[in-house]
Amino acid sequence: MTEPAYLAAVRESYDTVAADYAAQVKAPAELDPLSRAMLAAFAEVVKTAGRGPVADLGCGPGKVTAYLARLGVPAFGVDLSPKMVELARAAYPELRFTVGSMTALEFDDEELGGILAYYSTHHTPPELLPLVFAEFHRTLAPGGHLMVVGHVGDGERRRPVTAYGGHPVSYESHLLPPARIAGLLGRSGLAVSAELVVAPAAGMTRTFATFMARKPESSSETRPR
Ligand SMILES: C[S@@+](CC[C@H](N)C(=O)[O-])C[C@H]1O[C@@H](n2cnc3c(N)ncnc32)[C@H](O)[C@@H]1O
Repeated sequence: MTEPAYLAAVRESYDTVAADYAAQVKAPAELDPLSRAMLAAFAEVVKTAGRGPVADLGCGPGKVTAYLARLGVPAFGVDLSPKMVELARAAYPELRFTVGSMTALEFDDEELGGILAYYSTHHTPPELLPLVFAEFHRTLAPGGHLMVVGHVGDGERRRPVTAYGGHPVSYESHLLPPARIAGLLGRSGLAVSAELVVAPAAGMTRTFATFMARKPESSSETRPR
């Protein structure tokens, strides 16, 4: 499949900011209590389901992958940016990190016991989110769990010029309404079990949301929204 054009800008931008991103962006243990609680809940459900390895898609420098691993999850990371993967491998040599895109995952059907997408889907143009969520559905084992966490909004598109300490970036961010994201997950065949929308608090500038979903054991279990 030909790579969607926007990926080149995302890859190049994150290669450029990678070192400062890793230095500036907090590890999950330093995040707010709700973020920690949702990661703990995800860790518990994927461990209880026990359906296989758990991919942290758009893992960046690997801090969240390592956090899941410390919670006992058989986690590994995938990122579009080779520089991010290089940093993740250097920081956590005991874990597996590979370069790849969530638009075309290099996994067999039903290979994954869980998928985490942590602040990594908002660069995907909305019209391509169904493709990404179809990849999540294809690669998850029946009974496997998905958690998507990210910025949400009223559908606005942002085009920052610099990021993470003044580095030039050329990606776009798409801040979709939570109901739209949940609807697209449901239409991909995943059963959404929880949505948590968190308003900006002290030290935070944007609303973010967490979605928990599960791949049904059989297609008759699916409830499209
Ligand atoms: C804001 S960072 C989040 C990194 C990490 N999850 C964290 O919480 O620190 C977004 C990451 O998603 C990656 N990314 C964006 N689109 C991607 C795609 N289609 N496939 C894989 N990774 C992607 C970027 O390269 C970047 O490292």
